[in-house]
Amino acid sequence: QTTRKPLIAGNWKMNFDHLQAIAFVQKLAWTLKDAQHDYNDVEVAVFPPFTDLRSVQTLVQADKLELKYGGQDVSTHMSGAYTGEISANFLKQLDCDYVIVGHSERRYRHVESDETIAAKAKAAKDAGLVPLICVGETAKDLERHEPSAVPANQLRGALIDFKPGDDFVIAYEPVWAIGAGSAATAEQAQNVASVLRNVVRQALGEETAAKTRILYGGSVKADNIVGFMKCPDVDGVLVGGASLDVEGFAAIVRYKK
Ligand code: G3P
Repeated sequence: QTTRKPLIAGNWKMNFDHLQAIAFVQKLAWTLKDAQHDYNDVEVAVFPPFTDLRSVQTLVQADKLELKYGGQDVSTHMSGAYTGEISANFLKQLDCDYVIVGHSERRYRHVESDETIAAKAKAAKDAGLVPLICVGETAKDLERHEPSAVPANQLRGALIDFKPGDDFVIAYEPVWAIGAGSAATAEQAQNVASVLRNVVRQALGEETAAKTRILYGGSVKADNIVGFMKCPDVDGVLVGGASLDVEGFAAIVRYKK
């Protein structure tokens, strides 16, 4: 029996300016409120672009919304001559709860190494944010390795500065399923998630492994979430495209097991 509270998270990627973000969050709050009676006991989070965060913070605090939020990336440094970067402290100042690190769009398009991602995860932790560490294999990786091999290695790399009891969330996002329209099967997600939980167990012990939430991401929609949420090692989802539509995202939040 799990005591891990499911996390349903929307990664907006580079979508919605701050005005669109305000409209979206307001509409999401109304939609979820309307359906309060059949609301799951889940945590809901959004990951807007940096320029939206201040607006989201204002709205969440003014309307006392039960909505968590965070940045999509973070610097390895806390301040200084790092043009274009955003520090974990700045995100914390905006009352962010989480920050995504190691998303495949950063690993591959911005050539971020496991070391960089470990440093970002550490910077987040040091600032009091919960890092949401993304791992996942490409289709090419699958030609040479077991599905869990690359994600497990990426996770080991990301956790080098973590200690038993530290808070972090893992998102297993097979790169081949991101934006592809067809997701991994629940069985595939469960298999890799259980290996990832073992990685945490080996690195940080049973207690940390038992409390750490592992999300699945990659073409999650209202019509496939239930399968993932039935998996014993999957504790939520990280949604890209389908999180950009209020009704669609609300339907994912209100999945029926
Ligand atoms: O971080 C979420 C993401 O990469 C999955 O995107 O569009 O396949 O849901 P999507």
